[in-house]
Amino acid sequence: MESKPSSLFIFAEEPVRIVVCESPEQVAKAAAQESIEYLGLACSGSGQKVEPIVLGLATGSTPLGLYEQWIERYRAGEISFRNAVSFNLDEYCGVAPDDVRSYHYFMQENLFKHVDFLPQNTHIPKTDCSDLPASAEAYEIAINQAGGIDLQILGIGTEGHIGFNELGSSLSSATRVKTLTAKTRQDNARFFESLEHVPRMAITMGLGTIMNARAILLLATGLHKAQTIRDTVEGPVTAMVPASILQFHPNATILLDQAAASKLAHLDYYLDSERNQRSL
Ligand code: PGA
Repeated sequence: MESKPSSLFIFAEEPVRIVVCESPEQVAKAAAQESIEYLGLACSGSGQKVEPIVLGLATGSTPLGLYEQWIERYRAGEISFRNAVSFNLDEYCGVAPDDVRSYHYFMQENLFKHVDFLPQNTHIPKTDCSDLPASAEAYEIAINQAGGIDLQILGIGTEGHIGFNELGSSLSSATRVKTLTAKTRQDNARFFESLEHVPRMAITMGLGTIMNARAILLLATGLHKAQTIRDTVEGPVTAMVPASILQFHPNATILLDQAAASKLAHLDYYLDSERNQRSL
């Protein structure tokens, strides 16, 4: 990873770097810029084969702006995913890959069909099988065989989940089958006919899987995320707020809009720290 170009993930001062943007649109633009530079997605034009990039991807409303930015920059001929391998965080159990509510469908519609990922290089946990635990285990092995994740994109649930690592998740968990909390099912009911139709289980990368990523970029926008961001960054590290494990990650950036940052007790200090680092 040291050999990959990185001008932005240089902030060693704090393990969790906080960046606050004016709006959700600015969060998406900053996330696109950071990821493009860090991963070296820009088309070099040299035609030389470079080392494959392994990208961890997320679903949900929050990363949509980032995916739009990537698509725009791909269409402008600036970036390519030809050399990228992707692993999504999670998939619902009991929802077929071609179902419009599946994360397979989500990724196809919102990213993959618009850019140049090679189809065989994109991975999402398989839940249309009889042995779900074996499928989860195979997914973890596939991530390791690909060399591990270079950059993991994350959203965050209102109760602090990352992926579908719900409260009480082992802080060192691997990819596995997980039961969704009532809050997660309520939050996601907007995508289903009714709450009753929301799946009760999913396969998700574990917190240990996510922590093995070489760099992490977590995005959060909106006032409804402000308390969980505060708990994640400033609270104790606890399985009751699974995202708080990121305090142990050596290279995690949290990109927020002003609303999501509004409950941080030490916001002024984070802004000051970021300004100082940029001036180095
Ligand atoms: P959201 O979901 O981006 O739709 O808010 C985030 C999550 O549940 O991880």
